[in-house]
Amino acid sequence: MTKGRIFSGIQPTGIIHLGNYVGAIQQWVKLMHDYDCIYCIVDYHAITIEYDRQSLRDNIMEAGVTLIACGIDPERCTLFVQSQVPEHTELAWIFNCITPIGDLERMTQFKEKSAQHREHINMGLLDYPVLQAADILIYKAGFVPVGEDQVQHIELTRRTARRFNNRFGETFPEPQEILTPTSRIMGTDGKTKMSKSLNNYIGILEPPDVIWEKLRTSVTDENRKRRNDPGNPDICNLFTIHKVFSAPEDIARINRACRSAEIGCIECKKILFNNLMAHLAPIQQSAAKLRDKPELVIDALDEGARRCREMAAQVMDEVRIKVGLLPCTK
Ligand code: TYM
Repeated sequence: MTKGRIFSGIQPTGIIHLGNYVGAIQQWVKLMHDYDCIYCIVDYHAITIEYDRQSLRDNIMEAGVTLIACGIDPERCTLFVQSQVPEHTELAWIFNCITPIGDLERMTQFKEKSAQHREHINMGLLDYPVLQAADILIYKAGFVPVGEDQVQHIELTRRTARRFNNRFGETFPEPQEILTPTSRIMGTDGKTKMSKSLNNYIGILEPPDVIWEKLRTSVTDENRKRRNDPGNPDICNLFTIHKVFSAPEDIARINRACRSAEIGCIECKKILFNNLMAHLAPIQQSAAKLRDKPELVIDALDEGARRCREMAAQVMDEVRIKVGLLPCTK
């Protein structure tokens, strides 16, 4: 018996960073043991901003490689690529017809992305959260493990389920987000959320020397100007990352030694680098092996899509009948 169904997704942007890993993937791996988990590489979401056609397919494969290397086990959960299950976009169309445009224009991510990509504000970008709602609801998932930045989209998903149920009869659950204690990782600039588009990220598969260089130059407590000034771990982004990757004794010691200026930022960063690499090295090794055997990843994704099409087709038939369309005659 599982505790229920989980759905979550990640965009194939070509890089999976510490924010994705700590905010989402680490808990995807844990939840896999107790829940019926469906994890998706959301390629249709990735084309809502400008992208390079040549790289997209590689990035989808790289997302599959990275997720499996992180411990997502296709034998224990369902891993697949969104565009291989057409019911996602079909259900999104039905949801489009019950979603007020105002709800979408108010979304923080839409406002941020349309400011970043002024030349490329397209319908897909506005509609992004509706497709996300369809991703989750086509499997009637009850829980969605995500980082803090996605909470608004999960709220919209609940509103969409409610609206559909009120109009067409009880069909969808109202899914809950599952957040980790560190559901927001800041970038190396210390000011904005870590993200690929802001180029303030540390990629989990980047070579150790690149990771060290990014950590070495990361912004910490900006009030600490000199080595002998006491620091404040509460406002230091790297201390947040320590809390994820360092042992309790290290965390307690750094907390004390930073406040008393016993330890400087560089020393603290070296400890973090060692602990982080101890965690990432096996993931990097396993990714390197998987890249040499792409057929393993392709087989897992094919099987995942097959299972999902079966589940999604049933729900889509139920939806068609409820909204007054003809069912599919097979
Ligand atoms: P994406 O690819 O942007 O992010 C994937 C996951 O990583 C989390 N995340 C972070 N967590 C903490 N700190 C950060 N700096 C950070 N940056 C990213 C995100 O919250 C997310 O959980 N819209 C989704 C993709 C999606 C989806 C879905 C998710 C499409 N359909 C259905 C759940 C359910 C997204 O932002 O992906």
